[in-house]
Amino acid sequence: MGHVKHLYVHVPFCAHRCGYCDFVTVTGNDDRHLAYVDALVRELETRGTVLADTVETVYVGGGTPSKLGPRLLASLLDALPQATIETTVECNPEGVDPEMAQLLGERGVRVSLGAQTFAAPLLATLERQTTPEQVRAAVALLREARVPSLSLDLIYGIPGERESDLARDLAVFEELGPDHVSAYELEAKPGTRFSIHHGAELEAQGELLERHMDLVIDSLGYSGYSWYEIASFARGPEHEGQHNRAYWLGNDYLGLGIGAVSTVSGARRVNAPKLAAYIEDPAAVPATIELIDERTRQTERLMLGLRLADGVPIAEVADVLNRSALERLVQIGIATTTDDTIRLDRRGRMLLHDCVADLLDDDAA
Ligand SMILES: C[S@@+](CC[C@H](N)C(=O)[O-])C[C@H]1O[C@@H](n2cnc3c(N)ncnc32)[C@H](O)[C@@H]1O
Ligand code: SF4
Repeated sequence: MGHVKHLYVHVPFCAHRCGYCDFVTVTGNDDRHLAYVDALVRELETRGTVLADTVETVYVGGGTPSKLGPRLLASLLDALPQATIETTVECNPEGVDPEMAQLLGERGVRVSLGAQTFAAPLLATLERQTTPEQVRAAVALLREARVPSLSLDLIYGIPGERESDLARDLAVFEELGPDHVSAYELEAKPGTRFSIHHGAELEAQGELLERHMDLVIDSLGYSGYSWYEIASFARGPEHEGQHNRAYWLGNDYLGLGIGAVSTVSGARRVNAPKLAAYIEDPAAVPATIELIDERTRQTERLMLGLRLADGVPIAEVADVLNRSALERLVQIGIATTTDDTIRLDRRGRMLLHDCVADLLDDDAA
């Protein structure tokens, strides 16, 4: 029996590929859902030996897990370890019908739903096929089914988005009242259609993005959400995402499925994104393996840990920390070091990447 307490399961299927997305996804291939779930179960049998007796969190992400439909998703959930703290399933709103909502409610699953924006022109820019009405209907069904926690994703910084558009989106979020909000600044990932069409526009909107982020933090704060991680807001600690917290804390996790990442005992493994080979034999699918040495581990701990309002204990990043840079950040009022823990204040977290670059000593940077 192993020690790993966090399990990620990747379901790559999507009805359509949104232009901004660079996650490992496949469109079409609907006839392969069953074979893929079967391959996931086989991979769990071979690689699941690293899992502890008690698995704390399971996250079924995508792609679009809800695209499996309620019956197949139920059989996947049956085959996975029962998480003691939280099981999350990512859903697209159009995949949430009464049967799907009932399954998620009965299983006590936390649901993460992609809304992104409610403005029709911005949805078109994102090439989203989901409509605002579908998001509202999905939220209502999931509430009726009493899922224990509901998270809604928001994207801001979409080309053409004005502050008034974002304010309207935030007002709809407040009206829908999810338990958790993930608010992401739109990233134009290299190689996506989006970066080709809109990359220059996105680069030019630096100052506007800061105002957008201010608006998101203030508005969700007024609506009663606590800003516990750079892109995450929760109505009470019981709704904070515990699976993602495990990543931010640098805990080991096992990832199953195509393109899935695992970090176990100082080795990071990424499964190749090859659907046919994976279905044929998940144990034989190629994977890249990278050894994480102690300095890299501490560097990642600093980068990820400072995303959290809780910050990072100095002792956990001592080998890579530039102490004079830390003193400077404390002096200018961006960071604190109470309880021997580095915490960034609001401004510091808004400038996270610059602060992290400063705080890493020259050998680690
Ligand atoms: C991998 S998606 C899966 C969820 C689901 N398929 C969907 O589209 O709603 C998870 C979330 O990542 C966010 N996301 C994906 N690509 C992004 C990008 N380029 N920039 C910012 N956020 C992104 C979206 O908010 C999305 O809901
Ligand atoms: S954003 Fe979601 S639905 Fe769109 S391609 Fe990516 S994973 Fe699929």
